[in-house]
Amino acid sequence: LRTTTRAQLGRRWYIATDQLKVGIVGTGMVGATAAYAMILQGIGREIVLVDLNKKRTEAEADDLNHAVPFTKPELVTVGDYPDLDGCKVVVVAAGVSQKPGETRQALLGRNAKVFETVIPKILQHSPKATLLVATNPVDVMTHLAARFAAAHGAPASHVLGTGTCLDSARFSHLLGRHLGVDSSSVHGYVVGEHGDSEVLLWSLVTVGGVPLDDYCQARQILLDDAIKRDIDFKVRRAAYRIIEGKGSTYYGVGAAIAAIVHAIIHNEKCVLTICAPMATVAGVQNTTVAMPFLVGGDGVIAVLPLSLQGEEYAQLSKSAEVIKEAIAGIDE
Ligand code: 2OP
Repeated sequence: LRTTTRAQLGRRWYIATDQLKVGIVGTGMVGATAAYAMILQGIGREIVLVDLNKKRTEAEADDLNHAVPFTKPELVTVGDYPDLDGCKVVVVAAGVSQKPGETRQALLGRNAKVFETVIPKILQHSPKATLLVATNPVDVMTHLAARFAAAHGAPASHVLGTGTCLDSARFSHLLGRHLGVDSSSVHGYVVGEHGDSEVLLWSLVTVGGVPLDDYCQARQILLDDAIKRDIDFKVRRAAYRIIEGKGSTYYGVGAAIAAIVHAIIHNEKCVLTICAPMATVAGVQNTTVAMPFLVGGDGVIAVLPLSLQGEEYAQLSKSAEVIKEAIAGIDE
């Protein structure tokens, strides 16, 4: 009887309610859009919005709650740090974002200051939550958040950042369009910094498990260096182009946040190019970079052992150094 009832009601009803509370700290365009993406997919049962700007946050909560009757049961509330008590995941999207032409690294000083107050407060009121950092530069900010979490005695697996999930999605999307395949059937990873030095791993791309070159040959699709350079440019410069056109990016990253929260709440154990602190990567010690990680109920489970060669290894090493230097910069 129990099995039948489970099957009838569906999986999400069998997750304890305290596993279904998600906090979002920082409810600008990214935080609010992440909430919207979660609501549309029925991820979580309660979303708590925390932001200094109460008036705007109340308005976002109202607007979001008005979408709920068209989707799945969910409640969006506005709270303060104590209301994060019992969250399974807290998304951190607080801080400033890029202006047209500005790099993500240029935000570092300002956002590091924001994290100095925000992260300890989250940890104080929601010590068991997994922190999902989305604030840019996301790799360095995740490194900072992990330090605060370690000082609080939180498990290392409980801190991760959106990393290059969005860049990998941009890569798969553009490749899928060029190859005439749905992007979900294209496995393409972008690793390293979520920023100018990121690395598109062409050597590991597969389409339905078939290596990219074999696929192109079989389907008679041209994919020469000029086309690869064009895709690389469009992935690497995507945020600049979007910010130039409409001021900020939020749909892509909002969907990426929702996917990562889903992976944690449902203990999916899926592979995502999130970022997390690593003892060593491409010969660089103690830095935080995006790699394909296994993500599940306790946050970060493991990093995938990639066997990179030559140029791609060298580029990853360089990218890891860029982040390490930025981390050293805030320590000075
Ligand atoms: C993005 O890549 C700005 O990091 C943000 O869309």
